[in-house]
Amino acid sequence: MGYQEQFGFQLNNKYCAGCHDPESTPQRVSNYENLEVKPHPFTEGDAFNKMSDDDLIAIISHGGPALKRSGLMPPYGYTLSKNEIEALVSYVRLVSDPPYAPGTVYTRK
Ligand code: HEC
Repeated sequence: MGYQEQFGFQLNNKYCAGCHDPESTPQRVSNYENLEVKPHPFTEGDAFNKMSDDDLIAIISHGGPALKRSGLMPPYGYTLSKNEIEALVSYVRLVSDPPYAPGTVYTRK
């Protein structure tokens, strides 16, 4: 893991994993089961690979409604810097399964 991804991983643990990771750990109880609309775990490449970097940055900065998604996805544009949001995007790309292949054109559902 490079520095950028490592930084994204830490931010994920702090801000995102509580909703995006369905597994609870001793340090963190997952909120996933309580959410009416289920977020995708960041490993789910099928969900994230068809989103562009701009889409990811938009939904992280402005929340679900930026992409006509649920408002249960909060906006982080005031909490996180541009660098931090980009680090999160790098992290999401890194853990993606199937792996993210930049340049691949995915059809939108
Ligand atoms: C309070 C719960 C919550 C937190 C915290 C949260 N999210 Fe989400 N997120 C959601 C929900 C719910 C959706 C699904 C919205 C939809 O599909 O309508 C979502 C959707 C997304 C999506 C679109 C792909 C998908 O899963 O459908 C991305 C990208 C995303 N979140 C990134 C993040 C990042 C990065 C963080 C941390 C900075 C974060 N989220 C924190 C609830 C959350």
